[in-house]
Amino acid sequence: MEPSSRVQELTPSLTLSIDSKAKAMKAEGQDVIGFGAGEPDFDTPEHIKAAAMGSLDAGFTKYTPSSGIPELRAAISEKLKAENGLDYKPSQIIVNCGAKHSCFNAMLATLEPGDEVIIPAPYWLSYPEMVKLVGAEPVFVPTKAENNYKITPDEFRDAMTPKTKMIVINSPGNPTGSVYTENELAGLADVALDEDILILSDEIYEKLIYDDAKHVSIATLSKDVYNLTLTVNGFSKPYAMTGWRLGYVAAPEGVARAIDSLQSHSTSNPTSFAQKGALAAYKGSQDCVKQMVAEYAKRRDLVCGLLDAIPQLKYVKPQGAFYVLVDISATGQNSTQFAERLLDKQKVAVVPGIAFGNDQTIRISYATSSENITNGLKRIASFVGA
Ligand SMILES: Cc1ncc(COP(=O)(O)O)c(C=O)c1O
Repeated sequence: MEPSSRVQELTPSLTLSIDSKAKAMKAEGQDVIGFGAGEPDFDTPEHIKAAAMGSLDAGFTKYTPSSGIPELRAAISEKLKAENGLDYKPSQIIVNCGAKHSCFNAMLATLEPGDEVIIPAPYWLSYPEMVKLVGAEPVFVPTKAENNYKITPDEFRDAMTPKTKMIVINSPGNPTGSVYTENELAGLADVALDEDILILSDEIYEKLIYDDAKHVSIATLSKDVYNLTLTVNGFSKPYAMTGWRLGYVAAPEGVARAIDSLQSHSTSNPTSFAQKGALAAYKGSQDCVKQMVAEYAKRRDLVCGLLDAIPQLKYVKPQGAFYVLVDISATGQNSTQFAERLLDKQKVAVVPGIAFGNDQTIRISYATSSENITNGLKRIASFVGA
């Protein structure tokens, strides 16, 4: 049996081989330090787990509406209004099985085969594959370190063709940690408005933000921008709920209904009791998020301080998420060589930037302990110095 051509066109995960090698080495008892994690190292806060467990005990174990339980959609609507200044009615919000699923559904519901989707690089590695899966074409726009890896309005305009249908904006960004300012978003929105380009705004790292950086939801900029935007967010990163698989997309009414419809014929509803946990996440105290963010901020400063002492490595100080993108070009190695040799020689696992569309960089995740960061960066320093 042959897999479909659609699936054969997918790029195999470049991170997988290094990751599986790191795991195998760990299983053999080797002292491997992992900077590859794309997920919080914290446990889900207790009150969220308790809400889900309570709902299980109460027998909340059946199908729910495919778009999510009404009280969760209402809570998301309230959150988007209170925290982001966004007006989405509950009927415009569809709860999905993780923000990844939200992005995929958003593309499936709006793109036609042959449409082009602009993806600023470095990018989260699932965007291009999702675009291809729905029959559209990714168009990569390399961004510059001096622009903090953010696409400029001119770069956006230059990449446009008559086939351009969507741009993906991910702020705070993975793997860059970059956060777009309101002004920068306004510049991009103007270009999108000129040609009616849809904006997929992936805001999953919204709450993981440092110093005086401010998260702005692009759909707040004007009614016209709102009408072109699909806002994606979720619970995985802010509440350490990666395994729960809960995200959502908020969109103009017609697109929201379309997403509900396609979801009703694919996954049906997101898991019933997980939704009760998500409800507790939004309704309960936000102290847990504050504590995690404070810890990430300390670790970010630790990584950056240690990187400052390694002259061969450059980086742009991230303002959000939990990654540092490190420029390794001065080492003369490409990102795969660097990552493989680093793992072999120093037992440190990082993600090669080629996976994100930039072969001059590696990604270090600081969703790990300060002790690991200190020891891992020491090893990287001796690897680079060697
Ligand atoms: C930019 C970005 N968007 C979306 C996701 C997916 O999040 P979820 O676990 O909610 O599917 C990730 C996860 O790594 C991500 O980095």
